[in-house]
Amino acid sequence: MDKFVIQGPAALEGSIRISGSKNASLPMYAAAILAREQPLVLDNIPRLRDVFTMLEVLGVLGVESNWTDEHTVSLDATGGIAETAPYELVRKMRASVNVLGPLLARLGQARVSLPGGCAIGTRPVDLHLKGLAALGAVIDVEHGYIVARADKLRGARINLLGANGPSRGATANVLMAAVLAEGVTVIEGAAREPETADLCNLLNAMGADIEGIGESTLTIHGVASLNGVEYPVMSDTIEAGTYIAAAGITRSKFVLENCPTAMMEPINSVFTRAGIRLQELDDGRLSVDGTDGLRPVEARTAPWPGFPTDMQAQLMAMCCLAPGISVFTESIYPDRFMHVPELVRLGALITRDTATAIVHGVAGLQGAHVMATDLRASAALVLAGLAAQGETQVLRVYHLDRGYEGMELKLQALGADVRRVSED
Ligand code: EPZ
Repeated sequence: MDKFVIQGPAALEGSIRISGSKNASLPMYAAAILAREQPLVLDNIPRLRDVFTMLEVLGVLGVESNWTDEHTVSLDATGGIAETAPYELVRKMRASVNVLGPLLARLGQARVSLPGGCAIGTRPVDLHLKGLAALGAVIDVEHGYIVARADKLRGARINLLGANGPSRGATANVLMAAVLAEGVTVIEGAAREPETADLCNLLNAMGADIEGIGESTLTIHGVASLNGVEYPVMSDTIEAGTYIAAAGITRSKFVLENCPTAMMEPINSVFTRAGIRLQELDDGRLSVDGTDGLRPVEARTAPWPGFPTDMQAQLMAMCCLAPGISVFTESIYPDRFMHVPELVRLGALITRDTATAIVHGVAGLQGAHVMATDLRASAALVLAGLAAQGETQVLRVYHLDRGYEGMELKLQALGADVRRVSED
């Protein structure tokens, strides 16, 4: 297993390129199953562990993937498609469950392992199953597998709102079944994240007929078939937000290229409140300036257009150095605070009360050995290590590799002293 060895404090400058979006692209690979006649070609794809896992799942299903350049992958589902997504792959990456809807639409049957839980909490799929059943699928759970059958999918009115709000995965799964269902489907309580909108735009480019994109009610007019197209995936809003937090915690100024600024308002508004100066430049570049110092913030995670839970740990790391008291409330995953004890090891002052964490800003952090536990918690520890005095070692950075393309290379390009060291 690899670790990062970081010498802090770092002063960052220059520019880096934001990669394609992990969370926009993951359901898109599954959408390739819907293209019978031509391959689906996706551009601006990030080279991430989760992407390679998803391509492995598709391979088992009979979808051939070929990288036509470093960030473009061609997905060929024109041959025979198998119905089973096995446990040993699905357990590695929950988003694999997104193959359920497309398999039902293509084959009329599917056998997909129930995804496991993970460090940030239980990850139920009841809303996925509710939506697909509403379209006419008969669904059983047998020996840890979801077994679904549907002679014909028929349009329906479906409310996908769960106790914690909309579900991005369930919206994607139901969407990718409804596009080939007979008649009209109305999804109420749909996820509104830009990544979900990007999936809708891909499906429409493939020949689907989806209205209300970006809104909480989506109307899908079923069509007979979809075509393979070439489509550029949007850039990663969470990766960009993570590097904005890096500018804040190191009081640096630098430029993000290929940045999806227009789709980041719920993230950027919080950073602006925290004292970061953001300025949109030409051709997709964003200037991020943390040199004025930080102000404490109150942040409550919520479904889009609220502040995203995937940015909570990174913002918290930055606010450890904001003079005053910052308050974080986690409404999506109440246990998503694995980063708190590790930040405390670096000298942060944080108290936690169930779904809320209170951060008392400190003058500085001290380097230490810390353990990564999940993707965004790992990013938070790297950010803190950049600002900490002395050496920080972040262990088990395979978590980071799931969602950040070449993080150490990008930080080195900005002038940080970060080394990836193999632990084996
Ligand atoms: C997506 O996961 C993201 N992953 C997660 O990002 C993100 O944290 C999460 O949405 C919330 O924004 C991808 O897009 C690949 P949900 P997903 O279904 O789709 C509950 C990262 O760091 N729920 O929108 O699995 C659920 O428990 C990852 O990149 C049900 O109750 O999340 C949660 O409280 C981590 N029943 C809420 O809804 C269901 O059937 C939102 O979950 C499904 C979900």
